[in-house]
Amino acid sequence: MSDPDAATLDAFIGVVAESLDRDGVVVLEPLDVEHTLALWARIDTNCSTDVTDGLAATCVMLDPWYNKGVGGVRDDYIAYVVGLLTAAGQVAPHVYLWGFPEIIAGFVDRLPEGLTLEAWLTWYYKNSPSVIRGWRSAQMTCLHLRRADGVMHPEAFLNEAQLAKQAAGKLRYLPGPPSVIEAGLLVGFIGRNEQTGHPSQKPQKVYDPLVRMATVAGELVLDPMCGSGTTGAVARATGRRAVLADVSDEYVAMVEERLGIERVAVPRSLVTC
Ligand SMILES: C[S@@+](CC[C@H](N)C(=O)[O-])C[C@H]1O[C@@H](n2cnc3c(N)ncnc32)[C@H](O)[C@@H]1O
Repeated sequence: MSDPDAATLDAFIGVVAESLDRDGVVVLEPLDVEHTLALWARIDTNCSTDVTDGLAATCVMLDPWYNKGVGGVRDDYIAYVVGLLTAAGQVAPHVYLWGFPEIIAGFVDRLPEGLTLEAWLTWYYKNSPSVIRGWRSAQMTCLHLRRADGVMHPEAFLNEAQLAKQAAGKLRYLPGPPSVIEAGLLVGFIGRNEQTGHPSQKPQKVYDPLVRMATVAGELVLDPMCGSGTTGAVARATGRRAVLADVSDEYVAMVEERLGIERVAVPRSLVTC
């Protein structure tokens, strides 16, 4: 059956493609994550036309609120996020999911069909200002989930000596980057130039290896819960492209300022689940 909104979709795709060519990164006007993923699934199925070339995502970054602290608690958190993972896996062959380890642990045995656990990644930060008496939280978890067609890029992490060995045909194995990434929380004087005021902003240093492991230059990362736009900053710094969205008008404005771009309107007829 033909899509009744095909012309609107084509026009939207044209605007996004043009903005990506110009800026490398696009931020959509405020949009719910489920709508963004549904829209990208629709764009993917249109990918045979020339205009959609380059808009298919290679990687989805999912960094939702964590079901404790900022963002509140939802009783259906596991089912909700499994739904997002399912939708993300239909859009891209690589999916990253962020959260606190004790909450993320609940997803390992509930991965949607087609996605397997590639790696359990840890962001280790020594400078947590936590004031509780007891263990001081110093880590967040990121699951790297992959479809069978997701290509890994450990070659992106070779140093010069390893590259020389590889060129000489003498590199016997490809050592990937460590699965623990150490970078300070963006508080106080740490990463002052990066700080945006978003309450859960990830350092670029943390997202950089994730983006480089899952994509090559020119490929697209979709971040439908983008917060301050860290994925966009990293995509730009590494020659990837990114489409960002967030439900919050305040955070979309934050991204506009951080990345020097203007939000792209999403026609209402395309906002469906
Ligand atoms: C943990 S933060 C993301 C931080 C981001 N990775 C960064 O480095 O700045 C979670 C974000 O998800 C957004 N969010 C929450 N619910 C959402 C929804 N239903 N749809 C889209 N975005 C949502 C919030 O507004 C918030 O900015």
